[in-house]
Amino acid sequence: MPHKIHPHLQNLKQSATLAINKYCGELETSGKTIFRFGLGQSPFPVPDSIVSSLEGNAYRKDYLPVEGLYALRQAVAEFHQKIDKTDFEPEGIMIGPGSKELVFTLQLAMEGSTLIPSPCWVSYGPQGQIVHREIHYIQTQYENNWRLLPDQLESAIHSIESPHMLILNYPGNPDGGTYTPEELSALAAVCRKNDVLVLSDEIYGRMHHQGDHISIARYYPEGTIVSSGLSKWCGAGGWRLGHFAFPRELYGLKNVVASISSETFSCVSTPIQYAAVQAYTDYKTVDEYLIHSRRLLSIVGSYCANSLAKAGVRVRAPSGAFYLFPDFENFREKLTERGITNSPTLCEQLLQDTGVALLSGSEFGRDATELNARLAYINFDGRKALKISRKIPTDKTMTIDDIIPVCANLIEAIERIIKWLQAY
Ligand SMILES: Cc1ncc(COP(=O)(O)O)c(C=O)c1O
Repeated sequence: MPHKIHPHLQNLKQSATLAINKYCGELETSGKTIFRFGLGQSPFPVPDSIVSSLEGNAYRKDYLPVEGLYALRQAVAEFHQKIDKTDFEPEGIMIGPGSKELVFTLQLAMEGSTLIPSPCWVSYGPQGQIVHREIHYIQTQYENNWRLLPDQLESAIHSIESPHMLILNYPGNPDGGTYTPEELSALAAVCRKNDVLVLSDEIYGRMHHQGDHISIARYYPEGTIVSSGLSKWCGAGGWRLGHFAFPRELYGLKNVVASISSETFSCVSTPIQYAAVQAYTDYKTVDEYLIHSRRLLSIVGSYCANSLAKAGVRVRAPSGAFYLFPDFENFREKLTERGITNSPTLCEQLLQDTGVALLSGSEFGRDATELNARLAYINFDGRKALKISRKIPTDKTMTIDDIIPVCANLIEAIERIIKWLQAY
């Protein structure tokens, strides 16, 4: 029987982040030493009390309501009220198998098109392609710290017919940058004036290196859906638990997302939801864990950014998450002499020559002719690094020298990139 695939899906590739991980694994199997800066996964273990809670709840076997366990929805709403100073209620919380699935379902449910400042996370665009949704990238610039400017947003809104949704991700993947309260307030004003819904992807909110994350929902509560989950701040990407927080004004939309979900994933794994209650209520454990995670990420991120910047690479120091978005434009002439004129070739050649895996900027909504890439500075031993950090009082300065034994691999990878550039 001939199998027919929808024409618009025929060239769909596997998500770039998962593909690079697989490719690196294959290269390792063939005997090559690989420095993995490709996949964006937390280096830290899930806190013990949360793992114990999962163990203790493993026996639970019944389905849960599609929106999620009520106690978890309550805990998540309280978390947003307490930490983000936003006004979400348990009824507005929807639990999903990772926030990725919820973003997909929202794009499926909504009419109109999606505006996305680029560079942006790899999956927003392909998800739009799958559900036949129009995607409009707004190109931000290195000179503006990769920030979306209110004027840019305003003109993008007026250049297309129905921009019903803006996806804003901060601290951001792939650039590690975030927005100031003034910047968020100015963007919120443009969205309110033009009736644009904001999907605020705050999956890295708790990984703001200074713990100063602010949500745009504070300035545009009636039009913002906040997206987050356990994957990044809790080191639990493989647990697959994310959530959306809807304001009262958007409960109609939430109900549609829940109805679609009831026909697809039914509910998130029950033991995981019970363990997530622990993650969202054990503030003492989580606060301590986050203090050290943030401290370590800030040290490692600054080390990578400063080393590359000293070597002439254009790169912004990170404010949060675990990414940098280096731009090798200053090396264009030398790279061109070696036949490297775009970001996919840049990453392929760097991997072949040095074993360092970066993800090409073209995967993040940038033109392939630009010479940029994402670097996820996560290939260090997070468990051992946490142990070291816990021994150094938090009022004492800690530097990269304190963790050299657990991140030698990462330091070597940065040195390899620099030598590779200088060899040209
Ligand atoms: C910006 C951003 N949003 C959403 C996600 C999806 O996270 P999850 O589905 O694990 O909640 C990721 C994961 O890499 C991400 O980087």
